Amino acid sequence: MSLIKDTFGNLPDGAPVHLYTLANENGLAVKISTLGGAVVELQAPGRDGKPDNLVLGYDTVDEYLNNGGYLGALVGRYANRIGDGRFELNGKTYELARNEKDINHLHGGKLGFSHRVWRDEALNQGPEPVLGLSLHSPDGEEGYPGSLSVSVHYSLTQNNALHIRYSASIDRPCPVNLTNHTYFNLAGAGSGDVLNHEMQINADSFTPCDEKLLPTGEFRPVAGTPLDFRRPAVIGDRIGDDYGQLKKAGGYDHNWVLNRNGEGQSLAARVHEPVSGRVMEVFTTEPGVQFYSGNFLPRALAGRGGKTYGWRFGLCLETQHYPDSPNRPEFPSSILNPGHDYNQHTTFKFSSQ
Ligand code: GLA
Repeated sequence: MSLIKDTFGNLPDGAPVHLYTLANENGLAVKISTLGGAVVELQAPGRDGKPDNLVLGYDTVDEYLNNGGYLGALVGRYANRIGDGRFELNGKTYELARNEKDINHLHGGKLGFSHRVWRDEALNQGPEPVLGLSLHSPDGEEGYPGSLSVSVHYSLTQNNALHIRYSASIDRPCPVNLTNHTYFNLAGAGSGDVLNHEMQINADSFTPCDEKLLPTGEFRPVAGTPLDFRRPAVIGDRIGDDYGQLKKAGGYDHNWVLNRNGEGQSLAARVHEPVSGRVMEVFTTEPGVQFYSGNFLPRALAGRGGKTYGWRFGLCLETQHYPDSPNRPEFPSSILNPGHDYNQHTTFKFSSQ
């Protein structure tokens, strides 16, 4: 087990950005940047024991600042979309940046948590390397009410699980929805698209979206639709189906309503890549998961280590509250109130078969 701190680069104003490497003794090694708390690299063995990098990343701080896509990043205050960049809370209307095509507020706004440098602390706790990241978001930042303190702990276990534990507290009520936006490719980042991956999502229904990719408020059973992943299904088999929801989003980019049992973590998704044999299981405390098949990735993007990424070269499983919850009283509430702790715990577990 090890936890190593390196220099990654600097912001234009000179502020340093660090890159941590967490490694265990079973071949899992993760690099995390203090810029956006982003997972920059994740090495894990396949069936043949050979490690490969399974996440899309960039080589430099400049690329993380300028090249969009939220690669690997921690996203907040509100991950995903808030319609018209506006919500009402306790009789007051709050205006947020409309940073997605001047329509929606997306992933926390113009300078969300994905683009801030987090304070870092190495927290070696017993046998597990733990990286602590924290930031303070002042009252009014990006239009949100309340002074918010956030901390995220990344840790690796011997059984090849990467745990992400989020906590937060606030002094005024505000919607809070934190997630991680890593793009995975279990065959190796840059090796091709993810259409051959088999996906299983533990959900009987999803929240259909309109052309702005905002939920309509409907809860629709997945049965009989190309969004049915209750049993493992190859992503590419139905992604091109003539089905309105897939056409609107240009592929998979939807919120699944997770089947949960009780409090704590439950299984959200399981992904299997048949050539490498790699498997990734995702467990979470959250009510939903956005499965995004990388439909907005460009045809050619210079990626980490000389690799070129393309359209649908990575998939995201963003564990979350449902999109636009602040405007949807019928959805589970995402409001964090003073005196309460926000807690979210998501685990990505790697193995092979
Ligand atoms: C999320 C959204 C997508 C897209 C990506 C970032 O997954 O649901 O529509 O905005 O983030 O490109």
